[in-house]
Amino acid sequence: MIAGDIIADVGSDHAYLPIWLWQNKKIKKAYALDISVNSITKIKKNLKKYDISENIIIPVLSDGLLGLAELYEVTDIVIAGIGGENISQIIKNIETDNMENINFILQPNTKVEFLREFLYKSGFDLTKENVVEDENRLYNIICAVFIGKYYEPKPIEIIAGKNIKHPGYINKVIGKLYNILIDLDEKCDEKFNIKTEFGYYKDIENLISELKNYD
Ligand SMILES: C[S@@+](CC[C@H](N)C(=O)[O-])C[C@H]1O[C@@H](n2cnc3c(N)ncnc32)[C@H](O)[C@@H]1O
Repeated sequence: MIAGDIIADVGSDHAYLPIWLWQNKKIKKAYALDISVNSITKIKKNLKKYDISENIIIPVLSDGLLGLAELYEVTDIVIAGIGGENISQIIKNIETDNMENINFILQPNTKVEFLREFLYKSGFDLTKENVVEDENRLYNIICAVFIGKYYEPKPIEIIAGKNIKHPGYINKVIGKLYNILIDLDEKCDEKFNIKTEFGYYKDIENLISELKNYD
């Protein structure tokens, strides 16, 4: 998925991703950023272990990208293993002038819907989405580019993502919507008047039938 050659791996922790990319000749250089001093120590230790220069994978102690003066040369920003709200905040802190021509590769470990909505409403095009399964866990990967156009996403685009064909993921989303209906059912007569994050009772029923026919 990474098209460019100078990546910024935000929340790099141990720098396994840039190390793998370098060893497999996928990148020219990487910035391994982390907010934690402990993670920076781990990154430096791993660079020694794999005999990689700190001029090739450059450890940077930073909150998001705020501490990276060289953002201008970055082609790809990876933010993986962090919650969707935290990823949104990290992106919000980047000046829009600095976002053009950068590929964003995002793997939120929570609140994927929040992140999708934030991206659409902040001028991003979600170019590709994928779901990867590892040890019975599903991981969402979102590729996005900044196009500077506000878009009001439909609820189905927020909850189900863009063209995700993974049946396990669609079933997971349907299960989540059913749970909202079950919660609403407990409210008895009131249930049709309560607006949830995915709309009213009827909207959620419609989303479920739309998802059952999703291909
Ligand atoms: C669970 S690890 C993910 C490591 C790796 N990216 C992965 O996917 O395996 C999350 C890392 O993000 C870092 N982190 C959290 N918020 C951050 C922020 N605002 N800026 C930079 N790093 C952050 C944490 O210190 C931690 O090392």
